[in-house]
Amino acid sequence: MCGIVGVTGRENATEILLNGLKKLEYRGYDSAGIYVSDKNSDGYLVKEQGRIEDLRAAVGPEVQGTTGIGHTRWATHGVPSRANAHPQVSADGRFYLVHNGMIGNFRELKEEYLAGTEFVSETDTEVIVQLIAHFVAEGMATKEAFTHVLSLIDETSSYAFLLMDKTQKDTLFVAKKKSPLLIGVGDGFNVVCSDAMVMLSETHDFIELTDGDVVTVTPSSVEIEDVNGQSVTRHQFHVDDDASASEKGAYEFFMLKEIDEQPGVIRGLEQTYLAEDGSVKLADDMMNALNQADRLYIVAAGTSYNAGLVGKSIFEKLAGVPTEVHIASEFGYNMPLLSDKPLFIFLTQSGETADSREVLSKVNQLGYESLTITNVPNSTLSREATYTMLLNAGPEIAVASTKAYTAQIAAETILAKGLGMLKQTAAAADFETGFELTKAANAIQSLVDQKDVVEGLAQKYLGTTRNAFYIGRGIDYQTAIEASLKLKEVSYVQTEGFASGELKHGTISLIEENTPVIAIITDPKTAALTRSNEQEVISRGASVINIVAEELATAEDQIVLPEVHPLLTPLAAIIPAQLLAYYTSKERGYDVDKPRNLAKSVTVE
Ligand code: F6R
Repeated sequence: MCGIVGVTGRENATEILLNGLKKLEYRGYDSAGIYVSDKNSDGYLVKEQGRIEDLRAAVGPEVQGTTGIGHTRWATHGVPSRANAHPQVSADGRFYLVHNGMIGNFRELKEEYLAGTEFVSETDTEVIVQLIAHFVAEGMATKEAFTHVLSLIDETSSYAFLLMDKTQKDTLFVAKKKSPLLIGVGDGFNVVCSDAMVMLSETHDFIELTDGDVVTVTPSSVEIEDVNGQSVTRHQFHVDDDASASEKGAYEFFMLKEIDEQPGVIRGLEQTYLAEDGSVKLADDMMNALNQADRLYIVAAGTSYNAGLVGKSIFEKLAGVPTEVHIASEFGYNMPLLSDKPLFIFLTQSGETADSREVLSKVNQLGYESLTITNVPNSTLSREATYTMLLNAGPEIAVASTKAYTAQIAAETILAKGLGMLKQTAAAADFETGFELTKAANAIQSLVDQKDVVEGLAQKYLGTTRNAFYIGRGIDYQTAIEASLKLKEVSYVQTEGFASGELKHGTISLIEENTPVIAIITDPKTAALTRSNEQEVISRGASVINIVAEELATAEDQIVLPEVHPLLTPLAAIIPAQLLAYYTSKERGYDVDKPRNLAKSVTVE
């Protein structure tokens, strides 16, 4: 995984690398490093365990150069440490390499070619840089050795590589397979990065690389060779600026800012995708493709998968189309029997999740059409799918996803309405999308305004507990799954989201004195049943918090949800759960935006 940056042809390479890495921290933040050089110096290598600020503190004033590479790491092979941080260096001190991805056959390569070489790290990346040095020592030129090593890497591997050679000080050798990588084009300089957004301070023009590309970048040139060694030109695109949205303003953490932004995000989606008469404004070819499908396959990971679970109910009820939801990492290698005319919907905040990308590449090989619903324009999943629907939620910086989840549900609602109208379902005809989404946005607004209530509950029930449960039935169960993911990822409270009727079939044995059980109750059909499941845990000592729809609430219920359409209750019910997660994490003194062991964008399988 990880994020990489490179620059050549700029006086302030160090600053550009450090600023770029800071913005790439969402891809990993357990260690980081840079290597910079220019024609007058032997080059400087600085690496540090910890965050980019720790690296910045370790960079002395002498660390200056015109060309350099940098890396922020999310450990795969080898613990987070300075030795395992990148750049990795060849034993002869000549080659410096940063890598995003993983090399499946690194042990075999090490055994076959590098028996006598001393290694200083546990990383797969060091094997690659040592191999390059090995083949150069045997007489190959640098680029020849680089491409030769690439040819030895097995099919399971993924990489975005940036290589520097001390004897060619202004040149970056670049290669990409599966891991995202872009060249940013400047006037008299060029940059390389995992994500265009992090280099917008330097350039707005980017070249999209394709798997198998090998690129030689100097201050004045970008030479791309494809997988067959043929010189090629790749598509260049322009990215607009949205820097202000990445600022925290008065907020202590981005997570709270992003929770607060949700009503605006939903209203924004209405403005983008609904016409004045309430009809859906989406491209005809995309809607026709959806209409022709006999089954929708939603593929996603984590919170996006949870938004897909809600989407299944929405697509089936509004559009009447059978919908399956699959975890991307499972689907990629255990594909179920597909229907005759499947259409794949990739839900992904970042558009870069490797597990989802793997599925999309298989779907493309099979020749099926696909739609990516994402927050990041020009992201890999957006570029590689047949169609894209953008969430336009603004950058989501906190690692725990909040506004992307609600935006995904709102986008699915709009899409399902459009599809239902094509299919002439009564449910779609009766569903007033603008009215219902506005009502949901208003409900969210009223819930985010009750922060003090939720903060009090977090302090009282979740401040010290070891574990907790969210329960619900039907669509409330789907919300419970996302609610529990939110709480566990930022507060480290072991939390399960459970179908409340299923609790008594085993899991109830985990209930102890004061175990918090948070019930989500929005469906009149099942409210009494869930309430009776609550009694079962109360009799065994649990402390219960209720998140209940207005029409079903009693005076004892702690959080009351304003009325929203039954299909959109997750949009309201998730808000107190997001706030509970936020305040529990704060109460426990954690870095809410950067929970341990996680990364915002998971770019390894
Ligand atoms: C949790 C979270 C993750 C992501 C998952 C998929 O808060 O953010 O579970 O949802 O890694 O990421 P995307 O949506 O970028 O594909």
